[in-house]
Amino acid sequence: MSVQLDTLERQAQSCQACALGATRTTLVWGSGNPSAEIMFIGEAPGRKEDEGGLPFIGAAGKHLDEFLDVAGFKRDDIYIANVLKCRPPNNRDPQPGEIEACQHWLIDQIHLIGPRIIVTLGAFSTRWVLGKDTVISAVQGKVFQHDNYFILPCYHPAAIIYDNSKSDAFYQVARNIAQL
Ligand code: URA
Repeated sequence: MSVQLDTLERQAQSCQACALGATRTTLVWGSGNPSAEIMFIGEAPGRKEDEGGLPFIGAAGKHLDEFLDVAGFKRDDIYIANVLKCRPPNNRDPQPGEIEACQHWLIDQIHLIGPRIIVTLGAFSTRWVLGKDTVISAVQGKVFQHDNYFILPCYHPAAIIYDNSKSDAFYQVARNIAQL
């Protein structure tokens, strides 16, 4: 059940553990099925998410929805969360201190949801899961196994907007999910 997840979300709503607590409009906790088999981890909320309170509801979210289509899932089947729960001003990169302050929420989300497959979207979440020296282009498309999880590093959906040459590799990860 999701009671503990709901309780954590309520606690997170008043989080002021880093400076982003003062600049956010809305804390973006995560969304989807609280007992999902597949969990996606993005980077941080953007402007739309900061306004709307849900992950991936802007331009990058359209590519994530297409990815889900290819993989044969709806948003209600999966769970989506971010490394940072609050928007960095002007969508700048998350800072190490912010990740440090925020990560206990994500660790609890992973433990409570207990996914079988974790898809890391982009460099920040991939490094958070696989280690700080990980290079996204070197691991994208590979399958890793850690504890009870399959880890699938993937380009960030926003990267497809700026560089269409990454598109095939991005959607190939969606096809790989079916093999697991
Ligand atoms: N980019 C992310 O990494 N996460 C979101 O929720 C939106 C855009």
